Amino acid sequence: METIIRKTDPFRPDEEVIAQGAKILQQGGLVAFPTETVYGLGGNGLDADACRRIYAAKGRPSDNPLILHISSLEELAGIVKEVSPAAKKIIDAFWPGPITIIFPKAECVPYAATGGLETVAVRFPSHPTAQALIHAAGLPIAAPSANSSGKPSPTRASHVAHDLDGKIDMILDGGSVEWGLESTIVDSTSDVVTILRPGAITLEMLEKVVGQVAIDPAITARPPEGLVPKAPGMKYTHYAPKADVTLVSGPKDAVIRKMNDLARQSMAEGKKTGLMSTDETAPLLQADAVLSLGSETDYAAIGANLFDTLRQFDALGMDVVFSQVFSEEGEGMAIMNRLRKSAGYKIIQAQDEKGE
Ligand code: TXA
Ligand code: MG
Repeated sequence: METIIRKTDPFRPDEEVIAQGAKILQQGGLVAFPTETVYGLGGNGLDADACRRIYAAKGRPSDNPLILHISSLEELAGIVKEVSPAAKKIIDAFWPGPITIIFPKAECVPYAATGGLETVAVRFPSHPTAQALIHAAGLPIAAPSANSSGKPSPTRASHVAHDLDGKIDMILDGGSVEWGLESTIVDSTSDVVTILRPGAITLEMLEKVVGQVAIDPAITARPPEGLVPKAPGMKYTHYAPKADVTLVSGPKDAVIRKMNDLARQSMAEGKKTGLMSTDETAPLLQADAVLSLGSETDYAAIGANLFDTLRQFDALGMDVVFSQVFSEEGEGMAIMNRLRKSAGYKIIQAQDEKGE
């Protein structure tokens, strides 16, 4: 299949381009589009065949459910059974925006979209191109991140084309996205609102709105063998570039020394070695490639650059990448969650000169 690629101004999307994308969606086809988090791969969320096409294009296991995207609050009532008081508060505070809420599903939502679950994940994105496309299609749009399953999520149209060219009908190119990490996911069907995936809407922000908030254990550690996390997607290897990624944690000076040591050893073994750093540490590091995620004081930039930087290491042909780690506060929880998964949870502890 030939993939149509059309550029559009992200903030004032071209009506003709949107109409073309909406028509493809109504006919059961697949259209990738920008959102404020990452690019999504859209299909008609009420059409089981369109959902199956999404799984096939991504090479995604079919038990990993999709998020349905809406462009107005009125559309929510048609796809969910009920909205709890806590969910209502979250909607009022954060929609449209980078947070997905899990609800009991309405009958019309096919199991092909929910991976067989009785619940459905719903998001109302704030991105003008996403809103215009969903509105013009007049349908809830199922949209996982528009990457091949397991790869880092796409933050530019070129990432989507790299993974899915020839497998989908259309890509709307609206430039780079704003956040760069996927939406926060919260389960509103449990007694206590539970974060299943951290994102731009942080624990601290949610606590201000609903009080007590729980964190799914799969966010901070590898789920034990046999345990299926509540967000089924969290059990799969994710965000993994071709390079083998390892995280290095510890006091700052020790981390810099350790990263340089590890790079020296690995290059001596003939492996092309990359170091993922910040603007502050990059000048102190040496390897085949040293790429900075941004300033260590700017977590928004680090989140926005993470997936693109992982893809750049692949483009540079790195075999091995060592990365520094970040604090778990605020947006740091989402950054560390994605980093740990991209590294398959491998972390080396660097010790300072006193061995502490
Ligand atoms: O920011 C985002 O959320 C992006 C953009 C395109 O909106 N989408 C996205 O979708 O990240 P995806 O499919 O890559 O991730 C969806 C996650 C998966 O981990 C999945 O397991 C979880 O949501 N999920 C979906 N439905 C669920 C449900 N009913 N219960 C629990 N987890 C669910
Ligand atoms: Mg994804």
